[in-house]
Amino acid sequence: SSELPGLAEAHGIKLGVAVAVNPLAHDAVYRDLVTDHYTSVTAENTMKWQHVQPERYEFDWSGPDLVVDFAEDNGLSVRGHTLLWHNQQPDWLAQGFFDADELRAVMREHTEALLGRYEGRIDSWDVINEPFEENSPELRENLWYQTLGEDYIAEALWLAHEVDPEAKLYINEFNTEGGGEKADALYELSSSLLERGVPLHGIGFQGHFVHGNVPDDLAENMQRFADLGLDVEISELDVRIPEPVTPEDLAAQADEYQYVLESCLAVSRCVGVSVWGVTDAHSWIPEWFPGYTAALPFDEDYAPKPALGGMVEAL
Ligand code: XIL
Repeated sequence: SSELPGLAEAHGIKLGVAVAVNPLAHDAVYRDLVTDHYTSVTAENTMKWQHVQPERYEFDWSGPDLVVDFAEDNGLSVRGHTLLWHNQQPDWLAQGFFDADELRAVMREHTEALLGRYEGRIDSWDVINEPFEENSPELRENLWYQTLGEDYIAEALWLAHEVDPEAKLYINEFNTEGGGEKADALYELSSSLLERGVPLHGIGFQGHFVHGNVPDDLAENMQRFADLGLDVEISELDVRIPEPVTPEDLAAQADEYQYVLESCLAVSRCVGVSVWGVTDAHSWIPEWFPGYTAALPFDEDYAPKPALGGMVEAL
């Protein structure tokens, strides 16, 4: 086991990792990497709508139960990911042509099932994932927005709060880690929700960074959300490197990991940092960003990279 969990706990932050069901079930070395280095887990896919309720009223708890049981057996906390998102929705939902009342009923059924099942075992939930357009301050016109209008966000938060009153409820977003138009829009949304008394408790900043391009104002940007009374966290950290990857790249990536953790430590309401995958062999990056690779703290052979040392250095 490594010193990372103890260091993270000494600083009062979580150090988390996204886990996938298949290796969690079948790969003991993978499981050991998780329990040796991290204090929290996020389900990379298995708690998403498509997997939890693939057909209406047909729920599949096998993956979510595996993740939550594993976490509990090993003393790890769980970030719930995610309720409302425009991606990874089952066809019956995405193409269901529900009117507003029906869609509200669907939202309630799913929220009661998922948050209800894990009440008391999952302490924070990404209720809303990626509500803004990729690179603009406009709200994304997803299914929820199109049918319920922009108040779908407040409705979903109220509902989640009703189902699991103790859970910390989050909006999770990307391209908002540093300041800019999109981060400003998220800030405005957050403050107006809070002014209305809507149960929003935290902001997840995903942190899918490109090597050499990590925003230099992470702490400053997170601090203004913290000043609203919100918890903040880096929820899906990875730092992708364009191929070919050199030793210099890996050394500089270590500094980037160190900087991200130090930025969290600089904000007292930053509750943690989670990386988006256990090793480079499990990372979503090569498939989703062709030409980029090596984004995580362990390599494809499960060996620690300089980035892991960067995290230790920060703590
Ligand atoms: C990604 C997973 O890593 C992939 O395996 C899947 O194919 C697509 O989704 N933002 C999020 C995550 O909130 O849920 C996404 O995860 C990555 C971007």
